[in-house]
Amino acid sequence: MLKDSYNRRIDYLRISITDKCNLKCVYCMPSKGLKHFKDPEIMTDEEIVRFVRVAHKYGLSKVRITGGEPLMRKNIIGLISSIKQLGIPELSLTTNGIMLSGLAGELKKAGLDRVNISLDTMDAGRYKMMTRGGDIARVWKSLEAAERVGLSPVKINVVPIRDVNDDEILPFASLTFQKDYHIRFIELMPAVCDEVWRKEKCVTAKEILEMISTVGSLESFEFRGRGPSRNYRIKGAVGVIGIISPVSDHFCSFCNRLRLTADGKIRPCLFSKDEIDIKTPMRAGVDDEEIEKLFCRAVQIKPQRHLLNERAGALGHLNTMSKIGG
Ligand code: 5AD
Ligand code: SF4
Repeated sequence: MLKDSYNRRIDYLRISITDKCNLKCVYCMPSKGLKHFKDPEIMTDEEIVRFVRVAHKYGLSKVRITGGEPLMRKNIIGLISSIKQLGIPELSLTTNGIMLSGLAGELKKAGLDRVNISLDTMDAGRYKMMTRGGDIARVWKSLEAAERVGLSPVKINVVPIRDVNDDEILPFASLTFQKDYHIRFIELMPAVCDEVWRKEKCVTAKEILEMISTVGSLESFEFRGRGPSRNYRIKGAVGVIGIISPVSDHFCSFCNRLRLTADGKIRPCLFSKDEIDIKTPMRAGVDDEEIEKLFCRAVQIKPQRHLLNERAGALGHLNTMSKIGG
């Protein structure tokens, strides 16, 4: 088991497997001018699997596959299967749900345990606007498919933006009366988008909780306990509500994760500039021992906390969320 310099147990890896996406959400990507990695810059399946194998030796127990949109990657089924076969107990994937309905069964069979589906609105027109062109009908189909094949509990990520979709916080919360979904409200973070990101556009965790408590009394609900989400259940509901508040209340003291970028860099913190390149050494032919050292080094340099509150806006290096996978 691996602990960082602040005594946090690091057992969770988020892997971005592509920086491409079939949507362009307003808070995630600029409308144009976004450069993508070239194919040779992207980690191969073998390289990703090798890294996970090394990290697993040090107690890695949770892996989440992200993008971009991870389902756009070729051979996604094979990759999921290879990662699961390493003996990763919890393997999940975050998707926008556009391509999931046709792949859900195969993904489950390959060993995927769960999915998070990003859905910020239930209105077709608004969805089209927020995603710059997406078809919400496909997401509904994917939700159904995910439930049907048992990629559950299905989690839905909602990013409330003031005066854009904050009137849907209650409808989303109320979904938990009918469905055993986990609805996760994520505070809007400063990514690229000067158009959308202004501090006042972020609906804080406190505001979200206040709104939801008008529907019913909230009971704290522990779901696996660790990680950044504070979980609740509305009295009488079947589903769960999670609140993730990177902006108003950094949860860094509970952070258990590292990230691997699509181009092969370990990023110890979502917001950190420091990255450790593992692709170049791998391609230069180093042995596993060297990769282990780099992995342990990334854990060691994990910062105590991010400075999002202190320096919001000064985060040019973050580039776009689509490059890091949230
Ligand atoms: N702020 C908060 N969440 C974001 N995501 C993407 N960009 C942002 C942002 N600027 C979320 C998406 C998705 C997850 C991978 O990251 O909604 O659910
Ligand atoms: Fe694509 Fe997800 Fe970014 Fe939307 S939030 S553009 S679905 S990567």
